[in-house]
Amino acid sequence: MKKLLTLSLMIGGILWTTLIPLDKPKLIKLPVPPGWPEPYAIFNDNPLTEEGFLLGRKLFYDGRLSKDGNFPCASCHEQKAAFATFDHDFSHGFGGAFTTRNAPALQNLAWSNAYNWDGAFPTLESQAVSPITAANEMAEDLDSIVLKLRTDKEYQTMFRKAFGSKEITSTRILKALAQFSGMLVSASSKYDQVLMGKDSFNSSEQRGYELFKLHCESCHKEPLFTDNSFRNNGLKPDTHEPDYGRVGVTGVVSDSLRFRVPSLRNVGVTQPYMHDGRFYSLHKVIEHYSSGIQKSATLDSILLKPIALDPREKYDLERFLYTLTDSTFLTNPSFGPPGAD
Ligand code: HEC
Ligand code: HEC
Repeated sequence: MKKLLTLSLMIGGILWTTLIPLDKPKLIKLPVPPGWPEPYAIFNDNPLTEEGFLLGRKLFYDGRLSKDGNFPCASCHEQKAAFATFDHDFSHGFGGAFTTRNAPALQNLAWSNAYNWDGAFPTLESQAVSPITAANEMAEDLDSIVLKLRTDKEYQTMFRKAFGSKEITSTRILKALAQFSGMLVSASSKYDQVLMGKDSFNSSEQRGYELFKLHCESCHKEPLFTDNSFRNNGLKPDTHEPDYGRVGVTGVVSDSLRFRVPSLRNVGVTQPYMHDGRFYSLHKVIEHYSSGIQKSATLDSILLKPIALDPREKYDLERFLYTLTDSTFLTNPSFGPPGAD
C-alpha cells in the first residue's frame, strides 16, 4: 500500500487536510537462490528498488538510447536467448556495423564483478557506457539521451519515483539499467529442480552430469557454472583479426588469449558460442574439447591432457547441458518489455 503524508493547514479559520502520497522507492532484495554463494555488493552504491528496476527495464527496451532509435539494449540482448544475441556470431549495431565479440547472456550478473569477455569493467554502471557510446553499437552519447528523455512526462514520473526527484541524469540512467540487469537471476532450470529433489535426470542426462563433473566442472563451477576466472581453453586465434582477450585489460603477457569462463546456464539457447561466436552448436563445442584444443603458451594446464569422449558420451554431455535451460527465466514477463506483464 502507498504511504500517505497527512498535510493539515489552517486557512481562513478552516482546517484543510490533504493526503500527499509519499513516493518513497520500495527497497527490494536480490533473490539469492538456496545454496548459492553470496553475491558481490553490486547494489551498495545503488540501492535496488522496485521503481528503479521498472525504470531500468523501460530504458533497456527503449530505442531512444541509441542514435537512430533502432538499437535498444534488447536488440542485442534478447530474453528468449537468456539476453544473448540469438543465432548471430556478432550483433548488428548502428549504421550496419557489427560488434567485434559475441553478445553474452545477461544472467546472475550480481555474482560477477568483471564484465565483458575480458573483464574490462568492474561494475554494471561502467559497463553500460560502452555499448551506448560505441560507434558500432548504439552510437549515442549520454548527454544527448538525457535531452531526449527530459521532455518525456512518463520518464519524469518514473525518475521521480525511483530517485526522489524528476531530474534525469546520465548517472541515474546507468544506475537504473544496472538495477534491471543485476536483477536478472536465473536459477530454475531442470538441473536446479533435480538438485532440490523436485525432478530427476533421465539416464543419459545423469551420465552427462557425471562426465561434466569429471571434465568441465573445474572451470564451469557449479552452481553458477563459472568460477569467474580468465582462461585459455585452446581456441585457435582468428587469423585476420585475432582477439587476445584479457591481456588487453591487464597488459600481462601470460593473460594473452585468456577469456572469462562463461556461465553455462541457459547454454542450450545462447548459440553461437565462445567470445567470437565461432561454434553454432553444442555438438561443435564438445568436439572442440575432445579433439580441437590448440596448444599455445597460455593454454590452461587442465586442458593439456586430452578429454577423450566416445560418441555416446558426447551425446550424454550435450543432454546434460540442455538441463541448464531455465524456461521460466526466458519467458518471465517481469523481464520482458514494459506492458507485457
Ligand atoms: C549492438 C549490440 C549490443 C547492444 C545494443 C548492447 N550490447 Fe551489451 N553486449 C554486447 C556485446 C557484443 C557484449 C560483449 C562485449 C565484450 O565482451 O567486449 C556485451 C556485453 C554486455 C554486458 C556484460 C555481461 C557479462 O556477463 O560480462 C552487459 C552487462 C551488457 N552488455 C549490458 C548492456 C546494456 C545495459 C545495454 C544497453 C545500454 C547493452 N548491453 C547494449 C552487445 C550489445
Ligand atoms: C580450463 C577451463 C575450462 C574447461 C576445463 C572447460 N571450459 Fe568451457 N570454456 C572455458 C572458457 C575460458 C570459455 C570461453 C572461451 C572463449 O570464448 O574464448 C569456455 C566456453 C565454453 C562454452 C561456450 C559458452 C558460451 O556462452 O559461449 C561452452 C558451451 C563450454 N565452454 C562448455 C564446456 C564443456 C562441456 C566442458 C567440458 C567438456 C568445458 N567447457 C570445459 C573454460 C573451460
